[in-house]
Amino acid sequence: MLNRIKLWKNQNTTSSTLRERIEEIKKLRVPEHVAIIMDGNGRWAKKRALPRIAGHHEGMKVVRKTTKLANELGIKTLTLYAFSTENWKRPKNEVDYLMKLPEEFLGSFLPELIEENVQVKMIGYKEQLPLHTMNAIGRAMEDTKNNDGLVLNFALNYGSRAEILDAVKKVIKDCNSGIMEEEHLNEETFASYLMTSDFKDPDLLIRTSGEIRLSNFMLWQMAYTEFWFTDVLWPDFNDGHLLEAIEAFQGRQRRFGGV
Ligand code: FPP
Repeated sequence: MLNRIKLWKNQNTTSSTLRERIEEIKKLRVPEHVAIIMDGNGRWAKKRALPRIAGHHEGMKVVRKTTKLANELGIKTLTLYAFSTENWKRPKNEVDYLMKLPEEFLGSFLPELIEENVQVKMIGYKEQLPLHTMNAIGRAMEDTKNNDGLVLNFALNYGSRAEILDAVKKVIKDCNSGIMEEEHLNEETFASYLMTSDFKDPDLLIRTSGEIRLSNFMLWQMAYTEFWFTDVLWPDFNDGHLLEAIEAFQGRQRRFGGV
């Protein structure tokens, strides 16, 4: 612990200090599922008088670095909120660019993800996504399906209220057709109707850019998630920030409603 405090004080992290922090973190309980709301790309670009899409492009590079470190730390699932069901309201050129990002990202980094044993998955409404976006994700999912390292889960065209509502509709349908019985409906069986049925609930949520809200992200799944917010804009988010979030998580007491 003393060692940890000494390292915290040294915020001017050299790479050797980062290495020491990684080793310290790995000795303790590492969150299995980390979810991130990658916010602040637009403001990052605006500060530099660049178009908003330049911020998203820079944000994409941070996705790569964050994935690499998360994998190294032994995090099992990293869910990244890349596009919400509400993001279609943005200007067309920005939406078009955001829909191209998965191709750009996977075009550059898929070989690296394969080599690093990362498995790509996605949650969200696939039907409304352009074919080129879905093809890129589909190919990456297929090419990485046998990997058993970190699951890199993109939330794309994802919205939690719609997800919950759809789950309720499916439950009603299954009850009416006799597939499900009302007395068997509980938190666990209901969760199996959600898009996240393959995943355990997030242990840690990180949101960048100083906004302190959930923005329709995994509302059911985050009932007992630990939250960590930072003013840092997503394109400026670095390894030190991820370690800081996990160190904060490791200092929390999780009681899940108990004592
Ligand atoms: C929110 O910032 C960010 C998004 C809606 C998009 C996030 C996408 C990335 C970081 C790239 C994803 C990469 C891949 C590989 C899919 P904002 O635009 O709302 O920022 P602002 O609040 O400052 O305007």
